[in-house]
Amino acid sequence: MSVRLQVVFYSMYGHVYQLAEAAAEGARKVPDVIVDLFQVPELMPAEALEKSGAAKARAAFAQVPFAVPNRLAEADGILFGTPTRFGNMCAQMRNFLDQTGGLWMKGGLVGKVGSVFTSTGTQHGGQETTITSFHSTLLHHGMIIVGVPYSEPRLMEMKEITGGSPYGASTLAGADGARAPSANELAIARFQGEHVARITQRLCSH
Ligand SMILES: Cc1cc2nc3c(=O)[nH]c(=O)nc-3n(C[C@H](O)[C@H](O)[C@H](O)COP(=O)(O)O)c2cc1C
Repeated sequence: MSVRLQVVFYSMYGHVYQLAEAAAEGARKVPDVIVDLFQVPELMPAEALEKSGAAKARAAFAQVPFAVPNRLAEADGILFGTPTRFGNMCAQMRNFLDQTGGLWMKGGLVGKVGSVFTSTGTQHGGQETTITSFHSTLLHHGMIIVGVPYSEPRLMEMKEITGGSPYGASTLAGADGARAPSANELAIARFQGEHVARITQRLCSH
């Protein structure tokens, strides 16, 4: 029996988008798992996006369709990706989630699997706080939270700076955004996608 996963992300400069693609790739390795990739709508004024260079970066994934709050209920498991903003999720993701009140009233996500990944500019800029504070929203929705267990040995990497924790995959963009997700970080994101897919399948096969 097949299960459906959604990977729902916001990305301003493309780092979270790259993690989202990697998570989707990992999930698609699992047979009978259907994976859809969605982005949440932008809130920044076009002028600000242009000035910051984000408009150009965002053009690289403009083809990804927009997530629709009520359609989250069509998934058995959802991976959420957000850049860190002051140690928290970004406003675009918050705004999207704040449109799920109706879904929450109906218990539309109760018992579904939820998982989170992120990106920061700096090494200690709040990856873990972003992910664990995101979990509060998922718990209010009654979701079953899945992270990245240490059976993924890349979490132990000490020879290089790397994102990735038991809370979820992550990358470091660098203060100027110039650093791209590393091979280790992308592999952890693939692991997270596959892990979420396998657990969702165990819980939700129908
Ligand atoms: C308003 C704002 C707040 C930010 N807050 C943090 C922060 O608390 N910690 C940090 O390390 N990086 C912070 N950053 C950097 C972003 O996390 C970084 O640009 C992002 O992870 C890149 O991901 P993206 O390419 O998917 O947009 C902030 C950026 C902006 C614009």
